[in-house]
Amino acid sequence: MPFARITGTGGYLPPRIVTNNDLAADLAARGIETSDTWIVERTGIHQRHIAEPGVKTSTLATAAARAALDSAGLQAGDIDLIIVATSTPDFIFPSTACLVQANLGVGGAAAFDIQAVCSGFVYALATANAFIRSGQAQHALVIGAEVFSSILDWNDRRTCVLFGDGAGAVVLSAAEAPGVLATRLNADGRQQHILCAAGTVEAGKVTGDPFLRMDGQAVFKLAVNSLVQSARDVCAQAGIAIDDIDWMVPHQANIRILNFISRRLGLSDERLVVTLDRHANTSAASVPLALDVACRDGRIRAGQTVLLQGVGGGFTWGSVLVRI
Ligand code: ACO
Repeated sequence: MPFARITGTGGYLPPRIVTNNDLAADLAARGIETSDTWIVERTGIHQRHIAEPGVKTSTLATAAARAALDSAGLQAGDIDLIIVATSTPDFIFPSTACLVQANLGVGGAAAFDIQAVCSGFVYALATANAFIRSGQAQHALVIGAEVFSSILDWNDRRTCVLFGDGAGAVVLSAAEAPGVLATRLNADGRQQHILCAAGTVEAGKVTGDPFLRMDGQAVFKLAVNSLVQSARDVCAQAGIAIDDIDWMVPHQANIRILNFISRRLGLSDERLVVTLDRHANTSAASVPLALDVACRDGRIRAGQTVLLQGVGGGFTWGSVLVRI
């Protein structure tokens, strides 16, 4: 049975940077108070990238996919599986993965989207791993991409300050040695109400509330507890000690969540890859974007063990343990 390993990474951020001060000034103009100090102290976020109106998730995803293909030294035609994790697809259908495939100028390979909100990328990576291990694919493009700004209520200071737009991608290829060491996916649909965008399209109109709503404190607690347990489970499954993890690349939600998790696991904060200060929370894009940053700046090196973790709406969470 073949193994699967990451052979390339890529990322793309829309060029417009919105700092906390920019956002505070914008909200103040509508009579809503926030500040750089509040946002930095509670979240660690300093700025986010926001797509221009009309820029869609497939555009960001395609740019990240091209960068990942370049880094893997492959052509689009070499890819036989495309999975896009997103909660902000361009359309109800076709899937964003099919749009990316068309943008890359190829056809024929399987292409579909996965919806697991901020856990979407680890769900997609675990799925691609299963395809490769079962011999159904040789080279998979696994992408997390979001225009999350499109589902934010810009009058709700409790949520709009937390998120940004972007895309990250990896190429996962069949290999003789692992690669992906273990995967662990979980969900608890009973917690759907703590983080949701509960709108739908009915008779040609949006019904319900299409904006992201969140019980921040409930999400905080569940995120910490579920990711600590998930890290222990995936390491046990792979037969490695937590201390053997060289780098943690967790979903970039909030620096306090990340620090809680690393402390509970007994890992120093130096082993955490953090991009949320510059990217904010880009939902399904956050893990592959952070992975790409740390691979390109030389922190993550060949042979190292990396824990990728996602957590988000659903409620969903999961871990993928990889050797680079
Ligand atoms: N600026 C200024 N004040 C604010 C802001 C803001 N942007 N947002 C909320 N406040 C106010 C609240 O209104 C409240 O005021 P009040 O006491 O007068 O009512 C006060 O700040 C405290 O609000 P809390 O919600 O209790 O603040 P908390 O310390 O819990 O921080 C936060 C909020 C940052 C959302 C925190 O709960 C958190 O990080 N939760 C995790 C959720 C998360 O990261 N979600 C990301 C998406 S989910 C995911 O990716 C897994």
